[in-house]
Formats: sequence, structure tokens, C-alpha cells
Amino acid sequence: MRSKVQAHADFAPPAFFIPSLGLKGDLSPPSCTLLTPSMALPMRSLLTNPDRYLRSFRLFLEKSTEHQSMREFMERQLPDVIASIGNGKSTINVLSIGGGAGEMDLLILSKVQARYPGVAINNEVIEPSADQISKYKERVAQTSNLGKVKFTWHEETADEYESRMNAEKKSKKWDFIHMIQMLYYVKDIPATVRYFHSLLESQAKLLIILVSGKSGWETLWKKYGSSFPLNDLCSYVSSGDFPKILDSAGLKYQLYELPSHLDITSCFIEGDKDGELLLDFLTETLEFSKTAPPELKHQLMEELRKPGCSENRDGKVLFNNNLCAIVIEP
Ligand SMILES: C[S@@+](CC[C@H](N)C(=O)[O-])C[C@H]1O[C@@H](n2cnc3c(N)ncnc32)[C@H](O)[C@@H]1O
Repeated sequence: MRSKVQAHADFAPPAFFIPSLGLKGDLSPPSCTLLTPSMALPMRSLLTNPDRYLRSFRLFLEKSTEHQSMREFMERQLPDVIASIGNGKSTINVLSIGGGAGEMDLLILSKVQARYPGVAINNEVIEPSADQISKYKERVAQTSNLGKVKFTWHEETADEYESRMNAEKKSKKWDFIHMIQMLYYVKDIPATVRYFHSLLESQAKLLIILVSGKSGWETLWKKYGSSFPLNDLCSYVSSGDFPKILDSAGLKYQLYELPSHLDITSCFIEGDKDGELLLDFLTETLEFSKTAPPELKHQLMEELRKPGCSENRDGKVLFNNNLCAIVIEP
């Protein structure tokens, strides 16, 4: 069986990777094939239709507790995690990788400010999407109390940052580095983690958040990943893969499970538009309901109801969208 971590294939994770937001790669659908009415439509990656991807992602956020669950982590556990990163420093250096539109970044910065009042913060963001960067900038402009924070955005991928730093013979050190729901999109996950870990100061921390190895996603990927349309822009990776990656690099870390769920009840209502969009998101397939072979669709719907994926609560089917926060020591 192929390694889940090294393979770059198959499935968009439950995150907001949006090709139109500036990620590189040819996402145009293959040249058109003429279909007669009797021919089935081919299954295609959802990423070939950025507009539908974005709509399905927004619906995912609306129907899930993804952001709420991250916020709880930031409120409850993050203060202890950052308790020693800035001791005695006049400036705290924070590096955000794949910071998106900055929602979580600003929350993190507020916790750093609360722990080290009056200390200057240098926050740099590696984010390949120009659109996300502009939303991030708007958010900063609308947020008060950021006076002591200096923001710098680098419109590039994590790999490009590493290459640029190597070319410039630079290796700037950081007090806090975070990668939230973005490791699905790098070419070599272990190498990326090792590189950014090497940039930590002596009292720093590296925070990674991604889907939990005990989530419904993991069950779905294991059983059906190879049946969904392939693409080489992202990989299946969950916290279940991390002990091996981190142990083999000799790194010390702590894992925190963040409970989260996605209400997929509408997926079981035939013809329901929201249900169809969510099914697209779950399978990373454009118009899954219309293009999947009936047997695959039938099996997937059965699987989605099972305890490995979901639970029934108050008449709703709640898909297990648990996340995991991994805090890595320097
Ligand atoms: C799922 S979003 C997470 C955004 C943010 N961290 C959050 O949780 O709110 C993933 C982000 O990673 C960015 N991204 C995708 N590939 C990347 C790469 N190779 N290096 C750095 N960022 C990347 C995307 O543009 C997107 O903004």
C-alpha cells in the first residue's frame, strides 16, 4: 500500500484550499470529451471547479464546528503553550505558514500579546494566495489593539520560502511557528516539518493543526480514497501519521484532540442542494451525486452513517470532523 504521507494525490481534505486563491498548478479540466446521453459523466476532482469548491467549503464551515473547535483550543490550551516563548525578549517573532485570511492568526497574536503585554511582535505570513492575503490585510485594518504587531506577508508557498531563504543564505529564527490546516498541500510533509522546526529559537514552539487520525475523514480516505478522482495537489494526511514522522526525526511533541463535527443530515435527502454540495466536499468530487457509479454512491452513503464516520444525535447525522493540535518542542 502506498504511503499516505508521501503520496500526493487524491483528495482535498476538509479545509479551504481554493485553487482560485492563487495556488499554482494546472487546474483546468481535461479537454472536453463529447458525451452522448447514454454515456455516464466522468468523475472529476472538485478542485477543477473553484467556484463550486468555494461554495462547498463555505457550507462546510457553516455546518461544522471546525472554527469553533480551533477557537476553544486557542482559548484553553494555547496560553500554556506560549507561556515561555518570549521570556526576556524585546521582540517576539511569529511565523504563520498558510495563514489564510488570518482569523486564527489574529487570535494567536492576541494570546501572545496577553502573555507579553507591551512587547513588540514581528508577525510574518507565508501565504501563496493573493486573495487570502488581501482578506488578511483587511482584517488587520479592522482590528484594534494591534499597535505593537508588525505584519509582513510573503506571497509564496512554504517550499518557495525555504528555497528563497536558502538562495539568500538566510535562516531567520522564530519564537512561534504555526501551520494550521495547510500541511495537506506541501510536497514533502516530513521535510517541511523538519525545515521549519530547524528555524525554532531555543524556547520556541511549532504548532500544527490538521484532521485527527480518529476522525471520519481517516475512515473515508482509507476505504474510498482510491475511488475518488485523483489530483496531485494535496494528500491524505492526518494526525495518525505524525508520531512516525516526528519520532523518526527525534522530535518531542504533545497531541491535543479537538472535538468537532459536521452536520451531514442533508446528504441523505435525495435531491437536496446543500446535501449534494457537502457530498462533493466530502468526496472531493465535482457533482458526486450525478457522476459517481451508483454502487459507489450507495456504499459511500452507507459508510457515512456508520460509527467509523458519524453518529446520530437528535435526529441528525454528525460526521466526525475531529482535529488534532500538535505542539512540537524546539
Ligand atoms: C485550509 S487554509 C488554512 C488557513 C488558516 N491557517 C486557517 O486555519 O484559518 C490553507 C491555507 O494554506 C495555503 N496554502 C496552500 N498551499 C500552501 C503551501 N504550499 N504553503 C503555504 N501555504 C499554502 C492556502 O492558500 C490557504 O490559505
